[in-house]
Amino acid sequence: MNMEINKMAGALLGSLLGVMALGMFSNVLYAPDPMKKAGYDLPGAAPEGHGGAAAAAASSAEPFPVLLAKADPKKGEALAKPCTACHDFSKGGAAKVGPPLYGVVNRAKGHIAGFAYSDAMKAKGGDWSFDELNKFIANPKADIPGTKMAYAGEKDDAKRADIVAYLNSLADSPAPLPKADAKPADAAKPAEAAKPAEGAAPAAPHK
Ligand code: HEC
Repeated sequence: MNMEINKMAGALLGSLLGVMALGMFSNVLYAPDPMKKAGYDLPGAAPEGHGGAAAAAASSAEPFPVLLAKADPKKGEALAKPCTACHDFSKGGAAKVGPPLYGVVNRAKGHIAGFAYSDAMKAKGGDWSFDELNKFIANPKADIPGTKMAYAGEKDDAKRADIVAYLNSLADSPAPLPKADAKPADAAKPAEAAKPAEGAAPAAPHK
């Protein structure tokens, strides 16, 4: 009789212990999980999102040559519609409010003969490299104080890359994009940025 009770008590105790152990084990399993999620979700958000906030984050984080490498000249053409109020994009185009822009990439600043550039533009000097175009189109008045280009600027990095890619297509032989050769350090960045995302991916099935 006593033996029976002992056995039953033992069985009960055993299963209780089992349940406790399970509980502890699941704590161990679950406790670090939310932390893992919180830690990895931020960098992982970009590859998951494919647009919206992720695109915005990507556009500010990624160096311009990288954006330029994946820019779409067709989108750029649409985005450059507001420019056509003042600029002619066709080959041999005439000046409007602004100078014609065919072949502007790597052309000297303010080089269109007969166009009345502002003193600020004439004084600026240098060529319209991809980088210089990027800065100017982002905020003309900040880049060249005193410019008479009355355009507020395109603030979205990715859209600006599309516009600059379109400008580059307006040439007999478009210039090679400055991606691989000019900035090897920057080119390495997206690979680094992709790593935490790859690390986060295998963590997902665990939860
Ligand atoms: C309201 C008219 C207007 C709009 C809109 C405008 N521009 Fe201009 N742009 C000008 C004027 C005027 C100049 C000459 C600026 C100066 O001399 O300071 C100019 C100059 C430029 C230059 C320098 C050209 C050279 O020969 O050195 C570039 C590049 C340029 N614009 C690109 C653009 C792009 C790209 C857009 C659209 C995203 C745009 N502009 C929109 C009026 C405009």
